[in-house]
Amino acid sequence: MKKTVVGLNGSPRKNWNTATLLERALEGAAAAGARTELIHLDDLTFRGCSSCFECKRKGGPSYGRCALRDELTPLLERLPAADAIFFASPVYIGAESAQMRAFMERFLFPYIAYSQTTPSLYPKKIPAGFIYTMNVTEEQAAMIGFDRHFDVTDFALQRVFGSSERLLCTDTCQFDDYSAFTSDMFDAAAKRQRRLENFPEDCRKAFAMGERFALAP
Ligand SMILES: Cc1cc2nc3c(=O)[nH]c(=O)nc-3n(C[C@H](O)[C@H](O)[C@H](O)COP(=O)(O)O)c2cc1C
Repeated sequence: MKKTVVGLNGSPRKNWNTATLLERALEGAAAAGARTELIHLDDLTFRGCSSCFECKRKGGPSYGRCALRDELTPLLERLPAADAIFFASPVYIGAESAQMRAFMERFLFPYIAYSQTTPSLYPKKIPAGFIYTMNVTEEQAAMIGFDRHFDVTDFALQRVFGSSERLLCTDTCQFDDYSAFTSDMFDAAAKRQRRLENFPEDCRKAFAMGERFALAP
């Protein structure tokens, strides 16, 4: 049976860095025979966790799932059918976008059981990947300590899905025309060059990750 690989775009932009890499990852999965689906979280109206803890109430009707009902609900209900999931987000103020954060609260937290014996209520182990895009260079990201934040998200994904992998795309091109925006701290020509020379390599890595996820046993 065909595998299903789902990609969740946490960027409000549907054609820029994050969405493009996610599309490449899904193309890789499709090339390996998977059925793919791309979801733009920004298209859905939803809120973050309300801390009702109904997902943890013993014997409650919402045990292990989010009790809130909004446009995210149908997606949350069908995601466990996926055989692999890609999360993708731009880095906003050192973390995932608000759309992705709110989504992760609603999707991941219900499966994180407060139990020593059952750490995850997710019905199966699947490959989970996180694609991050950010303006800073790799060196700046390391200096600021972004990895510490990515590690925390990694930890949550590993706990829920059993494994996680990440791809970092740094020093991204943020606009088509740097001269139209206050951006004198950047070298516009270097950014353009980076887009032409390095971004395709990141796309190849995303494609390979998608292929690998679709072929995972
Ligand atoms: C609200 C906002 C906050 C941002 N904060 C950061 C940041 O803390 N660090 C960083 O490296 N880039 C930051 N950026 C830049 C984006 O992460 C970067 O341009 C990313 O590649 C955008 O993804 P997109 O092209 O898919 O929209 C920020 C951009 C916005 C709009």
